[in-house]
Parts: sequence; C-alpha cells; structure tokens
Amino acid sequence: MMEKVPYIPQKSQETNIIESAMQRVETIMKDVVASDVKVLTEASKHILQAGGKRVRPQLVLLSYAAFDGEDFEEAAPIAAALELVHTASVVHDDINDHGVIRRGRPSVNAIWGRTFALLTGDFLFTKVYELMAPYGELNVIFADATVALVEGETLQASAVKESNFTRQVYMDIIARKTAALFKAGAMLGASLANAESDQIEAMGRYGFNIGLAFQIIDDILDLIGDEEELGKNSGQDLKQGRGIAAVDNNGDNATNVLDSVKAKLVDNIETATAQAQHLVELAIDELSVLTDSPAKSQLIDLANKIINRTH
Ligand code: IPE
Ligand code: IPE
Ligand code: MG
Ligand code: MG
Repeated sequence: MMEKVPYIPQKSQETNIIESAMQRVETIMKDVVASDVKVLTEASKHILQAGGKRVRPQLVLLSYAAFDGEDFEEAAPIAAALELVHTASVVHDDINDHGVIRRGRPSVNAIWGRTFALLTGDFLFTKVYELMAPYGELNVIFADATVALVEGETLQASAVKESNFTRQVYMDIIARKTAALFKAGAMLGASLANAESDQIEAMGRYGFNIGLAFQIIDDILDLIGDEEELGKNSGQDLKQGRGIAAVDNNGDNATNVLDSVKAKLVDNIETATAQAQHLVELAIDELSVLTDSPAKSQLIDLANKIINRTH
C-alpha cells in the first residue's frame, strides 16, 4: 500500500518537507536487501531496522528540494543507496574497531561473527549498483565518495599502527572516511535537480564541511558521550589510539611524552569543539547559492544539529 502513495511533499502543509520521501527511502532499503540467502537479509534488516539518524539520505533529499526538485520518487533510491553505503561502512567499521553495540543493538559482528559481518557489509555495498544503475553520471559522485571512505579507514588503520596522528593526518582521515559521503549527498541532490555546476560545487563544500564537523563531534562524543544514548561503544578511540584523543596539536606525532594526558584531552576537546562550530558556519555560508525555502531552512537546521547533538 505504502508504495502507491505519491511521494511529492506538499510544501505548504508539511513542516518536514521530506518526511514522506524518507519513508520511501526506508521501504526501498528494506526491499532491496531481500535475498534467498537468509543470513544476508536477516543481518541487513537487523542493522537497518535499528534505525540511525539517517542524516545522509536527508541531505540528498533536502539538497534536491532546495533546487526545486519535485520528483521524490526519482530522488529516493539515490538517498537509499547513500544510506546503504554508510550502513555497510558501519558494519565493517565494527569489525575493525571491535564494536559490539551499534544503533542500540548488538552489532552484526557480535551476533553473526566477523565473517558474516564482512559479507553483510559487502552485500550492502553491492546493492548500490542495483539502486544506482539508472542514474548514469551520478555514479561518478558515488564512486569518488566510496573510494575516499575506504581510503580514509585505511589511512586511519595505518596512522594507528605507525602512531602518526598529527592534526593534518587526522583531518585527512576524517575528510575521506566521513566528509566525502556528506559531500556526495549534497552534490547528488543538487545534480539530480539540475543545479548549475557552481551551485553543485557549493553544495559539495556545504556537505564536506558539515561532514568534517560531524566526525569531530562523533570523536568528542566517543570521549565524553553516554554509551547508552549513543547506542554504540564509547571510549573506543582512546583505547585504540585514534580520534581527537590521539591528535597532537603541536604537529608532532603522538609518541611524544606528554606532561598530562588529561590536559591534552581537555585541550583537544576545546580545540575540536571550536573547529566544528567554525566548520558549520562555513557550511551555512555556502548555502547563499540557494534562494530562501523550507528546504534551505532545514539544511541550516541540519548543520546546526550536527554540533548540538548528544548521539
Ligand atoms: C556513524 O555515523 C559513523 C560516523 C561517520 C561517525 P552516524 O552517527 O550517522 O550513524 P547512524 O547512522 O546514526 O547510526
Ligand atoms: C566512522 O568512524 C567512520 C566510518 C564508519 C566510515 P568511527 O569509528 O568513529 O565511527 P563509530 O564511532 O564507530 O560510529
Ligand atoms: Mg568505529
Ligand atoms: Mg566514532
């Protein structure tokens, strides 16, 4: 029944203009993970039904709406594909980071083990081909983002191994592992709505900057957030030698003897908070390419929520 409802939001009547399109995104994700290989479907549904903030698909849809895109039936599969990439990345990330709680539930690796978690992540990644097949050129934006994501996770593992967590290395890691997907989300929506190339670029910078801020806040929450509220393991970064806890503000690597680990942490949290705030301001400035609309307001809200969050 749900599929028959037209998904074109009534801008004047709805406060959240993408609400019905987001429901469509959920249906698409649920449908696309059906497989006769039961464990893939079960593990995929387990992680998808656990929820999550769904920031990335919102970004696609809002960016699309902000350029007067109206065919949400066409936009929703792209938003779903982006959320699947992200979901795949967290399934794999929990294998790498030994995470046992994700989205308030036992992680896929905690229930099905590492092998099936690896394969479930692969399954979710490959489903993107299926969803994105009709979208031609937009696949290039996807390819750039997914390559960057894998590079970022790999650079992070290398930096941990080599104890080389300068601020520059940290920024490069988070740019690729997190900001690249946010950038892609904003660009995909704008491109689908036939925005001009300079507008698409500006939206890319908006997405990129909020993506950086998002990961910086994630890293702060890993240090000071509440595990229950976060719905995932906290304190992992400190234990595993990454995140803002590992960053050396002086630009030297983290093997230096530190006067006080605590002082460094406080210092890094303060620096990171200010930086995230600044990045969100830069992001919002980029939205000057948009005329005022409910979608633009929601993009501004989304950026502000990124820094004012507890999970
Ligand atoms: C978690 O992303 C991984 C990071 C890039 C920090 P989210 O915080 O968006 O995770 P969900 O989707 O809400 O669970
Ligand atoms: C997330 O980094 C990056 C990706 C999932 C690609 P984190 O390791 O900080 O993510 P969480 O905190 O486990 O969600
Ligand atoms: Mg992790
Ligand atoms: Mg984290």
